[in-house]
Amino acid sequence: MAEKGFKYVILGGGVAAGYAAREFAKHGLKPGELAIISKEAVAPYERPTLSKGYLFPESPPRLPGFHVCVGSGGERLLPEWYKEKGIELILSTEIVKADLAAKTLISASGETFKYQILVIATGSTVVRLSDFRIPGADAKNIFYLREIDDADKLVEVIKAKKNAKVVVVGGGYIGIELSAVLRINNFDVSMLVPESWCMFRLFTSDIAGFYESYYEKKGIKIIKGSVAAGFTADSNGEVKEVKLKDGRLVEADIVVVGVGARPLTGLFKGQVVEEKGGIKTDGFFQTSVPDVYAVGDVATFPLKMYNDVRRVEHVDHARKSAEQAVKAIKASEEGKAIEEYDYLPFFYSREFDLSWQFYGDNVGETVLFGDNNPASPNPKFGTYWIKDGKIFGAFLEGGSPEENKAIAKVARVQPSIESRDLLAEEGIAFASKI
Ligand code: FDA
Ligand code: NAD
Repeated sequence: MAEKGFKYVILGGGVAAGYAAREFAKHGLKPGELAIISKEAVAPYERPTLSKGYLFPESPPRLPGFHVCVGSGGERLLPEWYKEKGIELILSTEIVKADLAAKTLISASGETFKYQILVIATGSTVVRLSDFRIPGADAKNIFYLREIDDADKLVEVIKAKKNAKVVVVGGGYIGIELSAVLRINNFDVSMLVPESWCMFRLFTSDIAGFYESYYEKKGIKIIKGSVAAGFTADSNGEVKEVKLKDGRLVEADIVVVGVGARPLTGLFKGQVVEEKGGIKTDGFFQTSVPDVYAVGDVATFPLKMYNDVRRVEHVDHARKSAEQAVKAIKASEEGKAIEEYDYLPFFYSREFDLSWQFYGDNVGETVLFGDNNPASPNPKFGTYWIKDGKIFGAFLEGGSPEENKAIAKVARVQPSIESRDLLAEEGIAFASKI
C-alpha cells in the first residue's frame, strides 16, 4: 500500500486545521512539507455557519463562500490556495490508527502517512442518543449536526417536510441555534430542555428568561425539566413521537438532537497523557509526546488567567490555539522562545435578530443590567459575574462592536467593584470606562 511522508501533518480538516495551515504559510513553507488529512470531503471551513445561515430559507451561504479564515475577517483559503502554497489537502480520508512512537498514521483504505511533527486537530463528534441506548433512537428523521454532510441532510429534510413538527432535543448551543433557524423555516418547533432553563451551563435564569420569552413569542414551545426517554416510529420507520421521561408524548415529524459533543481522542488512547476528557498540553499545545501537538476542541490546556486547566469547545479558541501551536513549532525550530498561551474565554451566538457575546469565567455572583424586556424594540442587556470583589465574566446581548470590545476588556482586566447597585445602574457604561 502507498506510503507518504511529510515534515508536518495536521490530522483533521476543521477550523483549527485551516488556521494552522495559514500560520504555517505565514512562516514560509516548502512545497510538500505540510499535509492536512481530513475525513471531510471539503477544505477547512467556518463550522459555525452550519447551524445558522447554512439552514436559512433565503440566500443561504454555500461553499466556497465560508472557507476559513473568513469568520475572523481573514483571507478565504480556497482549495487553490493550498495548491499554490504546496500544501497537500488529503480529503475524504479517515485515519483509523495512529502510532505515535513510529510517527505513523494509517487510513481506513490502508495508506500510511509518516510525519516528523504532528498537529492533532480532530475536534469533536456528537453525543448520540443511541450511546445511552434510548429506545427508538435509530428511527428515520432523527438528525445530528457536526459536519457539512449532516447540514446537507438537514437542508434536504427542510425542503421535503414543509411546516412539519420538529422536536429539538437539548437546550445547549445546538438546541437554541437550531430551534431558531428551524422556526425561521416555518416549522412547528418544540425545544426539549432537561434543565430548569436553556443554556444552563452559561446563562443565569435571568438571561435565559429573556431568550425563552423571545422564543415563545416567535412561536417556539419550550419543554423544560425532562429528557427524551424514547421514540416511536410509523410503519416506514420514520419518527412519530418523542416519549419524555415524565411520561408525556410529543408528536414529531423530525427530531434534531444536540445533547453535547465528545472530543475525538480515541486514536491516541494510552499513547498520550489525557486530562478532563482531552489531550493534555502545555501553553504551547505540545502534548506529553515529543513532536506531537493538540489544538482546538481536543486540547486540555493551561488557562493561565484562572490558574486552571480547561478544554474549550468554541471557534475562537480553535483558531487561536492553532496559531499558537504553529508559532511554537516554528520558534522551537529556530531556537527561539514565544510567550505561553494566555487565553480569555470567548463564546458567542446569534439567533433571529439577537446576538450575544460572553467573555471570561461565569463564576461568583451576578449583576444584571440594561433592558431585558423581550418585547422591547431593541433590547440590550448584560450581566457581570463577580468573584472576590472583581469582575470575572461579562455577557452582553445586542452590543455594538465597541461595547463588545469593552466587555472583553473588563473580563481581561478584572476591575474591583465597589457597589453592585452602582454597577447595575452603570451597566455597559462601566465596561466602556475601563
Ligand atoms: P473541528 O470539528 O472543526 O474539525 C475537526 C476535523 O477533524 C473535521 O474535519 C473532522 O472530520 C476531522 N477528523 C476527525 N477525526 C478524524 C480522523 N480520524 N481522520 C481524519 N479526519 C478526522 N463555536 C463558537 O464559538 N461559535 C459558534 O457559533 C459555533 N457554532 C457551531 C456550530 C456547529 C454546528 C458546531 C458543530 C460547532 C460550532 N461551534 C461554534 C464550535 C466550533 O465550531 C468548534 O469548537 C470548532 O470547530 C473546533 O475546531 P477543531 O478544528 O478543533 O474541530
Ligand atoms: P451543549 O453541551 O452546549 O448542550 C447540550 C445540551 O443537551 C444541554 O442542554 C444538556 O443538558 C442537554 N442534554 C444532555 N443529555 C440530554 C438528553 N439525554 N436529553 C435531552 N437533553 C440532553 O452541546 P450541543 O448544544 O450539542 O453542542 C455541541 C458542540 O457544538 C459543543 O461543543 C458546542 O460548544 C458546539 N457549538 C457551539 C456553538 C456556539 O458556540 N455558538 C454553536 C453550536 C454548537
